[in-house]
Amino acid sequence: QTDIPSVKDVVTNFPVGAAITGAETVTLHGDLLAKHFNSVTPGNALKWDATEPTENTFTYTQADPLIAFAKAHNMKVRGHTLVWHNQTPSWVFTRADGTTMTGTADDKTLLLSRLSNHIRNVAAHYGTTIGTWDVVNEVIDESQSDGMRRSTWYNVTGLDYIRTAFRVAREVAPTAKLCINDYNTNVAAKRDALYNLVASLKAEGVPIDCVGHQMHINVSWPSIGDTEAMIQKFVPLGVEQQITEMDVSIYTNSGENFPTPPADRLLQQAYVYRDMFALFRKYASAITSVTLWGLADDNTWLDTYPVSRKDAPLLFDTRLQAKSAYWGVVDPT
Ligand code: XIL
Repeated sequence: QTDIPSVKDVVTNFPVGAAITGAETVTLHGDLLAKHFNSVTPGNALKWDATEPTENTFTYTQADPLIAFAKAHNMKVRGHTLVWHNQTPSWVFTRADGTTMTGTADDKTLLLSRLSNHIRNVAAHYGTTIGTWDVVNEVIDESQSDGMRRSTWYNVTGLDYIRTAFRVAREVAPTAKLCINDYNTNVAAKRDALYNLVASLKAEGVPIDCVGHQMHINVSWPSIGDTEAMIQKFVPLGVEQQITEMDVSIYTNSGENFPTPPADRLLQQAYVYRDMFALFRKYASAITSVTLWGLADDNTWLDTYPVSRKDAPLLFDTRLQAKSAYWGVVDPT
């Protein structure tokens, strides 16, 4: 479809991106990506297991073709992610003697030095090519009294892994925007736990520039009001806010399973995209980028998560045709 408007030409308030996890830089997918988006996020290629699978051996072969494509098409790149509890090789948490770290002082020293070494190498490798980093991902667990996820990172270092990650990232990538990224930030308890963490770390001088809202949502959740409250909450902190992984599932619970997307769900989805993008544009002074977690419905992580079933959460269908969701963004009347 060469006759339809580009998302990026219509939504000019901020860069609009797509996460890429497959071969979407070639042939028709590449054309679609370059036509509609001016930012990309490698969906898996910059995670720790991809970039440092064994200690101090760094490989960029997964990310480099996508980053070359982005450069060739003048697209921004979001780096995702330097520190996470998933997709991190087990050696990171393993002592020299082969046993697993438990949180001794030596464990903490070793883990923080591995963390610094990782960030120094990966962030320095990309220099200014990566304008924004998700420095830490999914560190909040609002069910804990202190709001912190009990990952090995936390269990061994407390909050120091977060402090170290941001400080080292700032040192090696001084012009990059540094984000703390999480999901369900529209849920009041999670939002508030994230806010409290960012407020206290910023007060200490930890260089956090940005809060990333993943926005893995569905056709009936969350409300626009709760999403607006999510954005408003962080405005007084003076941080940038980015929508980092948006998709809108056609499913409202994990028991549903449609062989093909029902027309009513696709229409609901179009209204969700319309209303959410209108909200983001209303807060364009705070929101500095919006990224969808995929390009088209032929490749979405929701086909296997949280259960195996065909989902259709993006703007383009499995045949790369623009959906009603696309028109909700592009032609919101
Ligand atoms: C997902 C990828 O899309 C999948 O390909 C992979 O198997 C698992 O991770 N939150 C995040 C992303 O921060 O890194 C996740 O990406 C989706 C949820």
